[in-house]
Amino acid sequence: MQFSSKRNWTHYMKFTVHSATDSPDPVRNAAVAGLLDTCFDSGHGGRTFHKQIPHGRLLVWSGSDLMGHVGMDYRVVRVGDATLPILGIVDLCVAPSARRQGIGATLLQRAEERARGQSFALAMADDHRLYLRTGYSLIPNADVTFLAIDEVRCHSVIRRDLSEIFMVKQLAGDAWPDGPIDLLGHLF
Ligand SMILES: CC(C)(COP(=O)(O)OP(=O)(O)OC[C@H]1O[C@@H](n2cnc3c(N)ncnc32)[C@H](O)[C@@H]1OP(=O)(O)O)[C@@H](O)C(=O)NCCC(=O)NCCS
Repeated sequence: MQFSSKRNWTHYMKFTVHSATDSPDPVRNAAVAGLLDTCFDSGHGGRTFHKQIPHGRLLVWSGSDLMGHVGMDYRVVRVGDATLPILGIVDLCVAPSARRQGIGATLLQRAEERARGQSFALAMADDHRLYLRTGYSLIPNADVTFLAIDEVRCHSVIRRDLSEIFMVKQLAGDAWPDGPIDLLGHLF
């Protein structure tokens, strides 16, 4: 189904919220895996996740068709001497037929609203446009240590300059501090 204006889709679409602890739902899982495979070139191998199952998901449906997805990961990260509670934005995507109507921005906004107690939202993005428009910024000199996972295998802990993709939005508290970043886990 094509949607002709930003106002229209809110009448047709329904948001649902899910936790990793929900009972398994093979139909929903197949819809998530299908949307991820459609939207990401890197391929998720038919899985509902790339690196790891996110703690939560927000989904957007048009009837039984899944039109949008964002995963939400909650953890602390270290920045210099500080430990910060963060929301990791995971696999944000919208079906090609439903893009450019504000669904992506709405998913981000709703994920952030649910992240009570998290000081920052983090996203890893090659294309910055949507994130810049919704209040994220690039961290200059982002010296990041993280667990590298590939094809559902840990292979090393690596340290990289991720200044080109590391995007942060302040949700509460103080500004992002200076210092090397330890994600205490995998990338989002
Ligand atoms: C990125 C994406 C979720 C945006 O969904 P959407 O519902 O179209 O988003 P909105 O309508 O709120 O905003 C659209 C704007 O997002 C920006 N945008 C487009 N593709 C983008 C991308 N891959 N990454 C970031 N921003 C993007 C553009 O500025 C676009 O507006 P424009 O075409 O008028 O310039 C969707 O294009 C998508 O699923 N892309 C493939 C998966 C992907 O790259 N996800 C991002 C992972 S970091």
